[in-house]
Amino acid sequence: MNILLVGSGGREHALAWKIAASPLVRRLVAAPGNPGMGAHCELREVAATDVAGLVALAREIAADLVVIGPESAVEAGLADAVEAAGIACFGPTAAAGRLESSKAFTKAFCDRHGLPTSTYAVCETAAEAKAALGRFIPPYVIKADGLAAGKGVVIAAERAEAEAAIDDAFGGRFGAAGARVVIEEFLEGEIGSLFALCDGTTSMLFGWAQDHKRAFDGEKGPNTGGMGTYSPAPVFTPELVDQVRERLAERAFAGIAKDGAPYRGVLFVELMATRAGPKLVEFNARFGDPECQVLMLRLESDLVPYLMACATGRLAEIAPPVWRDDAAVCVVLAAEGYPAAPKAGGDITGADADFGPDVVVFHAGTKVDAAGTLRAAGGRVLNVCARAPTLREARDKAYAAVDAIDFPGGFHRRDIGWRALSPT
Ligand code: GLY
Repeated sequence: MNILLVGSGGREHALAWKIAASPLVRRLVAAPGNPGMGAHCELREVAATDVAGLVALAREIAADLVVIGPESAVEAGLADAVEAAGIACFGPTAAAGRLESSKAFTKAFCDRHGLPTSTYAVCETAAEAKAALGRFIPPYVIKADGLAAGKGVVIAAERAEAEAAIDDAFGGRFGAAGARVVIEEFLEGEIGSLFALCDGTTSMLFGWAQDHKRAFDGEKGPNTGGMGTYSPAPVFTPELVDQVRERLAERAFAGIAKDGAPYRGVLFVELMATRAGPKLVEFNARFGDPECQVLMLRLESDLVPYLMACATGRLAEIAPPVWRDDAAVCVVLAAEGYPAAPKAGGDITGADADFGPDVVVFHAGTKVDAAGTLRAAGGRVLNVCARAPTLREARDKAYAAVDAIDFPGGFHRRDIGWRALSPT
């Protein structure tokens, strides 16, 4: 089978690593990919949002399947174009992808189809948003409506900070994504990330993990795309998994099909486990990053049949995936200044050392300069991942590798997995 994998982050490196291990794959090409992915596949310089270029590349390599990594490609309508070209595609159409690409759409969708979520206000102007703050109690949750690469969410303790976040969004900080703002009730509870596949009709759970969204230890600092993950996460009791599947994932798949846009791909349900049961924080129309990294380390089954079955409406024909009992941890090394203004160009040494069979370093935002030096080229730069029989061992192995990598222009959290390792 020939596969075109779209994207260039740590999530896509983890997907490339797992897909390349499949005996079903003859040729794997990534576009645009990153230097780490080059160890597992051919790289081609086509951007994830260059829909025409990617369809042409898929044709050129006689792709049997296109796998979409990032939300930007979903929003650009890549799945629509690939399917129109007669090629199977793992990833939802732009219409189904609105579950991620517009928070206002998703809130109205939840109301229409009975999915539990926080109360909210959708605001078209800064004045409207500031007035709406009066209907909420702090902390205030301010979200840009559209895609903002994980940077469009501000949790403000004070009203002045909330108003500044509103001015920022309407002032153009997130471009068109901030032309509308959603204000939400702050949900108390523990966060979780659950994944479900759907082929348009049949759905199947596909793992869960816990992410650490704040930049610094102790859940301090700005919200980020995710600074580290671990799986399994004890918050996911069998009861919670059942509730999330039934109340959020299955209702979403049924609702979006009823709205005329059947979902094909993976749905990432970001939820808060509250005293009143799970509530939706947001949907994402792709694997989580860095959740995907720990899932790929724990997935014993071949990934490729699941991707293909989703794309071709044959999920009912395959058994649920098998997961290793081992735990996995991912620690994100980010560039100083992330998420607001990450410093590019910091040099990195030691990332390609052999850390042992169950430690993998995925590249997220890197480049190799003319002299062959690996350098930071993004906010999140490397994902150091480890697998072991216990979470504590996996964490220790991951941090041993982190400590052996020299990245003076970077920072990382030291407390990934703290809720499971030192419950309070
Ligand atoms: N880690 C959260 C996300 O992928 O959006």
